[in-house]
Amino acid sequence: MNLTRRPRRLRSDGVRPLVRETDLSASDLVAPVFVDATTDERVPIESMPGHERVPVDQAVERVREVLETGVEAVIVFGIPESKDAEGSRAWADDGVVQRAVRAITDETDAYVITDVCLCEYTEHGHCGVLTSEARERSEERSSSGGIEDGAREDPHMTVDNDRTLDLLAETAASHAEAGADMIAPSSMTDGMIGAIRGALDECGFESTPIMSYAAKYESAFYGPFRDAADGAPAFGDRRHYQMDPANGREAMREVALDVEEGADVLMVKPALPYLDVVADVRENFDHPVAAYNVSGEYAMLHAAAEKGWLDLEAVAYESLLSIKRAGADIIVTYFAEDVAERL
Ligand code: PBG
Repeated sequence: MNLTRRPRRLRSDGVRPLVRETDLSASDLVAPVFVDATTDERVPIESMPGHERVPVDQAVERVREVLETGVEAVIVFGIPESKDAEGSRAWADDGVVQRAVRAITDETDAYVITDVCLCEYTEHGHCGVLTSEARERSEERSSSGGIEDGAREDPHMTVDNDRTLDLLAETAASHAEAGADMIAPSSMTDGMIGAIRGALDECGFESTPIMSYAAKYESAFYGPFRDAADGAPAFGDRRHYQMDPANGREAMREVALDVEEGADVLMVKPALPYLDVVADVRENFDHPVAAYNVSGEYAMLHAAAEKGWLDLEAVAYESLLSIKRAGADIIVTYFAEDVAERL
């Protein structure tokens, strides 16, 4: 055979490391941590094997476990002791995230990111306060016993964007006050980055960076997380504020707005089904890019591995490597600890 071009020449064991384009390291990874104010013992999350909700007084221990694997950053989610219409436990000084973050930053060197959203804190489970029309309708529905009935199709069942902004800003400031190193707003409220940047600056946290969930899709892959954080909407869905999975170009407009408003890191979520979006953000912006390898991406690999259909270790590593290859600098993933331990 007269083959001049033989790509296999660069695949021998000796040369493979030299021509490798992508590297994965523990310092790329962020591990999610769930702190639960309603429990005093660790509660396993059934749909996310290996993950638990931990009580506030075990938050430090939980983070130490993460640090031992070589992962240096965590993102903290809170499950509050009570919920109300506005989600007021989200910005409470003695709220679950605030208490946990104070302890973690006092006692460890972890880099602490906090998720800023209201869905775990509102009784209706939406990511902001409801419009007055939605409130009336949900009251009507609950008095007639059928909150689900027709709510899904009802275009008026949505959140009040502008009234939500102040609450997010206050939540972010209280996280920074508690010691959070970075703020990660995930509610897909228009103007949230600007509002949060303003509040942080006003409170003297002008050096605290914002990692925006800039292109966050209305995805069915969040299912297991909603069990974990108890944040499923009581009615309706999130399609009025999260992005349509069909849209890629729109993500560039979303991201551009967040850049204008002062975002420091741009996140795409979920990760694997949206690698094209990760690549486009990488291509079009100079900011660090993050991708969130979400609960459903984790759960499906575990489920298949449990059946013996996939090699979990191999597919977890390959998934994270692919997300990096697509252009992410930072990966938020439930695999962080397992993969880091093997790197
Ligand atoms: C809060 C939030 C969600 C996730 C991260 N932050 C849930 C949602 O939007 O429904 C999902 C994370 C995951 O699925 O792993 N808004």
